[in-house]
Amino acid sequence: MLIVSVISLKGGVGKTSVTLGLAGAAWERGVRTLVVDLDPQGNASTVLDPPEVRFTASDVLSDPRPELLAHAVATSGWGPAVDVIAADSLLERHNALAGRDTTLRLRVAMGGLSGYDLVLVDSPPSLGGLTRNALAASHTAVVVAEPSLFSLQGAAAALDAIEMVHADNLRLRPAGIIVNKLRTQSTEHRFRLDELRTTYGDLVLEPPLPDRAAVQQAEGACVPVQSWRSPGAREIADALDDHLDHLLAHPVDDGPLGAPAAGRGNGRHRR
Ligand SMILES: Nc1ncnc2c1ncn2[C@@H]1O[C@H](COP(=O)(O)OP(=O)(O)OP(=O)(O)O)[C@@H](O)[C@H]1O
Ligand SMILES: [Mg+2]
Repeated sequence: MLIVSVISLKGGVGKTSVTLGLAGAAWERGVRTLVVDLDPQGNASTVLDPPEVRFTASDVLSDPRPELLAHAVATSGWGPAVDVIAADSLLERHNALAGRDTTLRLRVAMGGLSGYDLVLVDSPPSLGGLTRNALAASHTAVVVAEPSLFSLQGAAAALDAIEMVHADNLRLRPAGIIVNKLRTQSTEHRFRLDELRTTYGDLVLEPPLPDRAAVQQAEGACVPVQSWRSPGAREIADALDDHLDHLLAHPVDDGPLGAPAAGRGNGRHRR
């Protein structure tokens, strides 16, 4: 079971759309997937549209017992291949908590989780307690970036965040950067894409995801983009397939998660 966080410290670049797109690629292949929505905005939960939610991600972080997490898992409206732990607005209060014990809550709660090939954790656009929880629980993290200056800065900060959390999670490795919403006709976009490739080399995952209306249309209809019938949707779906292949090839390291807890702080000064 591979656990992947989808992060960026810049808002609106497509974290949720990439999370849903990867879940859709898994849905199309019948890869058993759980989406954990750690964003108080709850956008992924809205699109995954579970008919019944007994406990939310906020409940899980408040009371991180594996038994409670098991009850928080809901079948999504997409069918049995994709389950979801839904967000609610109360998650916000967990963003303010960034101590080591609070950072490890999701990981502790996921301790008994099984039956999935893939877990995708969507996160809010900040390095607060929620993104830290996501990173501390994951094997790897995907950074999402748009080909624009501010988004590039967000990507650099997100890669730094992965380094920072590494002290709490020795198995955490960046999967790489997925470039999203690329408009190939835009000179600025092509310039920023080149800049990303020059700066980060192989960490920039291929292919970039193009800007296509089908992403918003499928989200608006609460269905996987893979089920949307348009050339743009197929283009996005093919690209996401490549990204899912890349992720599923990531070694699942279930070795030691972090240095012994005694005497450790939140890891921030330990690099
Ligand atoms: N490849 C794409 N083509 C067209 N529109 C896209 C694409 N990716 C994302 N979008 C749209 O861009 C908007 C922002 O995307 P999304 O909500 O996924 O970003 P986010 O990083 O999760 O935002 P936040 O930081 O608020 O959580 C949404 O309306 C989404 O439908
Ligand atoms: Mg989002």
